[in-house]
Amino acid sequence: MSHIIHLVHPVADHSLTILRDRDTDIATYRRHAQRIARMLILEATRELPRAERNIDTPLESHIGEVAGKDVVFVPVLRAGLAMLFAAQELFPSAAVGFVGLERDEITAEAREYYCKLPVALERARVCVLDPMLATGGSMDDTVSAVKQHGATDVFAVCVVAAPEGIARMTERHPDVTLVTAAVDRGLDDNKFIRPGLGDFGDRYFGT
Ligand code: PRP
Ligand code: URA
Repeated sequence: MSHIIHLVHPVADHSLTILRDRDTDIATYRRHAQRIARMLILEATRELPRAERNIDTPLESHIGEVAGKDVVFVPVLRAGLAMLFAAQELFPSAAVGFVGLERDEITAEAREYYCKLPVALERARVCVLDPMLATGGSMDDTVSAVKQHGATDVFAVCVVAAPEGIARMTERHPDVTLVTAAVDRGLDDNKFIRPGLGDFGDRYFGT
């Protein structure tokens, strides 16, 4: 992880504070998760190559620009699904792959229970969506999986990242860019991010 894009915007900071607040109700939590995911995905695709397209405005012909590279989204189940809805709103025809990982509650090691990825990852920008980068185990495994399927242009898109997860990704995947709204203080004894926002998946899905 040689490059970190830190989303700095008052609207993002506002949403992040609402996500962090333990008293936020589920509908509000979902709305702000959606909003911050949209902003993070826009950052992850800001430098996407463009292609020219000849069109006619109502007044004259015009050479416009469109995205010149496919984007593939890979939400890490389950919390990454919270970011997929925003991704599909911005890129409605993007292919979507799924990697299912669950952290063991004692060891915090990620265990894979599902993997289904699109075939043509070589030519695409692959955005791995996971709101929390804690130990980095889940992101490390997911990025390894998409690379095994041919991906070379990979972005990790996270709402909150811990320095420990960034260090692991820097060592294991120095070519990957991280886009995040916050780099927090660190992990606690239970491998939860502090100050963090708790268990993102539980809060988003109401479990
Ligand atoms: C959470 C989170 C990440 C992972 C981050 O998932 O959504 O996927 O932990 O931790 P790591 O960086 O230490 O691997 P969890 O395993 O709780 O599953 P869930 O998405 O089903 O809630
Ligand atoms: N997963 C979460 O949802 N939150 C954390 O703080 C760490 C892992």
